[in-house]
Amino acid sequence: MNPIVNPFAPGAGSPPPELAGRDELRRDVEVRLKRIQAGRPAKSILLVGLRGVGKTVLLDQMKRDAEHYGTQTIRIEAPENRSLPALLAPQIRLALIGLSKTEAAKEFAIRGLRALAGFAGKLKLTYKDIEVGFDYAPEAGLADNGDLEGDLTALLQQVGVAARAAKSSAVLFIDELQYVKEAQMAALISALHRCAQEKLPVTVVGAGLPQLRGRMGEAKSYAERLFDFPEIGPLNDADAREALVKPVQNEGVEFQESAVNLILRKTGGYPYFLQEWGKHTWDVAPRSPITEQDVVNASDVAIAALDESFFRVRFDRLTPAEKRYLRAMADLGPGPHRSGDIAEGLGRDVRSLGPTRAGLILKGMIWSPTHGDTAFTVPLFDAFMKRIMPGSSWKLEK
Ligand SMILES: Nc1ncnc2c1ncn2[C@@H]1O[C@H](COP(=O)(O)OP(=O)(O)O)[C@@H](O)[C@H]1O
Ligand SMILES: [Mg+2]
Repeated sequence: MNPIVNPFAPGAGSPPPELAGRDELRRDVEVRLKRIQAGRPAKSILLVGLRGVGKTVLLDQMKRDAEHYGTQTIRIEAPENRSLPALLAPQIRLALIGLSKTEAAKEFAIRGLRALAGFAGKLKLTYKDIEVGFDYAPEAGLADNGDLEGDLTALLQQVGVAARAAKSSAVLFIDELQYVKEAQMAALISALHRCAQEKLPVTVVGAGLPQLRGRMGEAKSYAERLFDFPEIGPLNDADAREALVKPVQNEGVEFQESAVNLILRKTGGYPYFLQEWGKHTWDVAPRSPITEQDVVNASDVAIAALDESFFRVRFDRLTPAEKRYLRAMADLGPGPHRSGDIAEGLGRDVRSLGPTRAGLILKGMIWSPTHGDTAFTVPLFDAFMKRIMPGSSWKLEK
């Protein structure tokens, strides 16, 4: 059918035509953010889940929701190699400028901009990647100690005071939180804790891979009391069905029941895979209704597209030793697997593989659900590894 009106949207962060199955969580976050805006306590929310389950698009939707009820939003994504203060500074500046437009908050927002000048000016020595415009001169003693934990706390407090004066709130939406380094994470947790104690309307809605939960606890032991970690996973059958059928119906096209069922089986309800299968099935289907045979005909192309985009970008960033480690995992099935079993598959000693495993965790490829266990962070990655490294010659390489 006409590819120009194909409604599906596979791609990291691409908003789906129908955001299925996330209404309850959106309402939950709305309640929390409105409570915080009203000066009442509520735990922050960090969405955790594997790659491709829809964390980023949900975070973006929650940000739009929050803007509807008057929140000052700050949106950043933590990449592997930039510091948290460098990412935060320009966005906090924009939020403060936004808050300064409200007369009642103006004076406080300007003091916030002075705090930002002190913050960025001092911390530049440590975090050389900080780049932010200065609108006001710093105020001696305000967020200018040069210590991230103290200065970030002072800065966010000032943001909170300005937001409260504007009868608003300031919410940081942070994606890929697992990449934030431990000391910077600790500073962020501590600053948020302080704001919560003072009932200031400042909080975080974050998203990250499953290892995030453990990393927060390592950074600050009390993190578990400040945050809830709802798990974002594959969609159940009813929601996955809706994700496929609604967008197609909106274009005046029908899906045969058996066709939908086959896509559900092939994708396991994983949102990224649903979009990819939906897209290619639409493209190969000659007419409405879309049939089971159309799904069969589209499957090879859907898998090839996933290999090239979703899986491949991750694979290409790996060293040969890391690739072999993942291939050995894949040999054992979807997982999780014991580290000892993986080592055995490689004919190696567990300890000698420690650095490889640690590197893969840092790159966000694997995580450890329980001590000594290792699991993929990308669904269906085991099958991909077998496609891209077929046979058994990988076992012989060193
Ligand atoms: N609730 C949903 N219903 C349907 N499709 C979704 C849903 N959530 C995400 N998607 C689709 O899944 C893909 C991956 O979403 P993304 O937010 O990038 O995942 P993550 O951040 O968890 O890796 C995108 O193509 C998006 O359109
Ligand atoms: Mg994402």
